[in-house]
Amino acid sequence: MPWVELLPSDAVGPGEVRRVETSATDAVGLDLVVWRTGDGRPVVCDARCPHTWTHLGFEGVVDRDELVCTAHFWRFDAQGVGSKVNVLGRRDPKGDIRTYPVREEAGTVVVDLPAPTAVDP
Ligand code: FES
Repeated sequence: MPWVELLPSDAVGPGEVRRVETSATDAVGLDLVVWRTGDGRPVVCDARCPHTWTHLGFEGVVDRDELVCTAHFWRFDAQGVGSKVNVLGRRDPKGDIRTYPVREEAGTVVVDLPAPTAVDP
């Protein structure tokens, strides 16, 4: 699938989470979020938390290099690996979230989305 322009780079700053929906002409009509790690790298992942489907465009906050779902505090790194840190500091594995290859070109965040799959009529 060709790389698809998602949004201007300056539309998602450090610590911000932006909701982006792709159209069916871009790929398969995905609900995504874009956020940046502490050192400014863009990350694109599915918008829905794999726990109970909370929308990370509304309930997600960036904590250094992780996106945290504030519903129940699962957190996801830039590769989508999920975990939760308990009150004693122990980190337990949780469900992962899908991430997508992303880069920035000429002031735009672009992402490599999956090709649409054939649907039976
Ligand atoms: S819905 Fe995201 S942690 Fe529970």
